[in-house]
Amino acid sequence: MRDFTRSCVYQIYIKSFCDSNGDGIGDIPGITGKLDYIKSLGVDYIWITPFFRSPLNDNGYDVSDYRSIDPVFGTMEQLETLIAESDKRGIGLMLDMVFNHTSTEHEWFKRALAGEEKYINYYKFVDGEPDSPPTNWESKFGGNAWEYVPSLKKWYLHLFDVSQADLNWDNPEVREELKDILRFWTAKGIKGFRFDVINLVSKPDVLENDTEGDGRRFYTDGPRIHEYLKELVEGGGIADMLTVGEMSSTTIDNCIRYSDPAEKELSMCFSFHHLKVDYANGDKWTLMRPDFGKLKKLLTDWQIGMQEGGGWNAVFWCNHDQPRAVSRFGDDKRYRKESAKMLAGMIHLLRGTPYIFQGEEIGTTNAGFTDISQYRDVESLNYYEIMLRNGKTREEALAVLAAKSRDNGRTPMQWTGGRNAGFTDGEPWIGIPENHTYINTEEASEDPDSILAFYKKLIALRKEYHIIADGSFEPIETSDNIFAYRRKLGTQTLTVVCNLTGEKTDIGSIPEGELLIGNYKNEQNGMLEPYEFRAYLK
Ligand code: GLC
Ligand code: CA
Repeated sequence: MRDFTRSCVYQIYIKSFCDSNGDGIGDIPGITGKLDYIKSLGVDYIWITPFFRSPLNDNGYDVSDYRSIDPVFGTMEQLETLIAESDKRGIGLMLDMVFNHTSTEHEWFKRALAGEEKYINYYKFVDGEPDSPPTNWESKFGGNAWEYVPSLKKWYLHLFDVSQADLNWDNPEVREELKDILRFWTAKGIKGFRFDVINLVSKPDVLENDTEGDGRRFYTDGPRIHEYLKELVEGGGIADMLTVGEMSSTTIDNCIRYSDPAEKELSMCFSFHHLKVDYANGDKWTLMRPDFGKLKKLLTDWQIGMQEGGGWNAVFWCNHDQPRAVSRFGDDKRYRKESAKMLAGMIHLLRGTPYIFQGEEIGTTNAGFTDISQYRDVESLNYYEIMLRNGKTREEALAVLAAKSRDNGRTPMQWTGGRNAGFTDGEPWIGIPENHTYINTEEASEDPDSILAFYKKLIALRKEYHIIADGSFEPIETSDNIFAYRRKLGTQTLTVVCNLTGEKTDIGSIPEGELLIGNYKNEQNGMLEPYEFRAYLK
């Protein structure tokens, strides 16, 4: 396995990155046109969310052909140009493989519906009667996770939308197909992969009702998951590539196995527990201030657990499924710059490979939508209805969406202060926050003190100081308002202190060493300014 500890990955949500042909939807040539900007950040890899042929019910996470490109995003030739141009700049492209399910528009599913036995076995079909689904499992996008097909007298499993049918990984033919798809893309020069909800693919042999929850305990990190991952990585010929698994509701022990090089599974894992600290009673569709005590404990437990077990974390705040970190954990009004930089420093100096989601590097905020017609995301639209059915008023449901909707992370990249933020010459597929007039890459590039400049510095420091990639992690005891930790390598120590609040806070004794990076021009006194972040090297 190669060593990816010094790498930094930039995530592109293609639909919202840059539109080259005025149809309001971001595309492949749009990315190619922005490679110099991406290169200027200093990142090593770009992960692009799915651009495969798709009905786009879930913006490409519903693939109908894994080997072709959806015309809305471009052509194979344009992708080949993007690969070549990225290569020239020393940037590797990572694709997003959605292997838990296919779109119901996929050829395999259509042939299954037509009654072909071979393809019925590609999916999780179960015989049954129209009024009683095989189990009470819930779809992650709301409602029961089974759909009845009268012509087959069978139910099929969909852990996500009804248009996303779960594949049957217990069928060796399915596993062969998936390996072959990986080989197809690596032959084109793809350098890494992100695997969508990969820890959900191994389903239990016996299907039973969940009397305690939504069913996830039966299929999360399922019975043969480690075996299947080893087979996929070896057979797909991707053991030396950067691979990251999106791990839903997982455990530290499983993530150690997924990412320990000796296991020959993946290079690293995304886990999400630290992003559920603003879910009241575990329910995402609620309003709650983040619990910083819980956040600190989760980050610390994962840092220590993965370190002790020989695993490797992907560290991140943002992606296309999350609200914007500066709005969620910082203060996107009074202290937008300070809190965005603090959050960046806090995560980039942890033990793990940092991921930056498009726009995070300029402090992009939540969307600020106030009407249901502004939302596009299937999950948000489903849950809006569910919240209304459960008795919330429209205003209440909209307030929850404004804080929690995935669309907060999906508004177009803000390139300029001008029309449509420089994203498109046409009508953007989703609205653009008003604040693009002053939050945009053009403005940030001119300001040496910008959030953007701070991200560049953090990425450069990782390359220069090996303690950031290689050092061990130790927490420092503090109040809930502060997160502090040490990294150690040989005789060196890196001490990081972050003020998680908008209040001046006492740090007690000042760490020893030289200030390596901070978000204030401070005088090393014992007080941290609102959202102040400092890292000292000794
Ligand atoms: C992952 C993706 C998300 C998608 C889901 C189903 O969580 O990140 O965007 O909706 O899987 O594929
Ligand atoms: Ca376009």
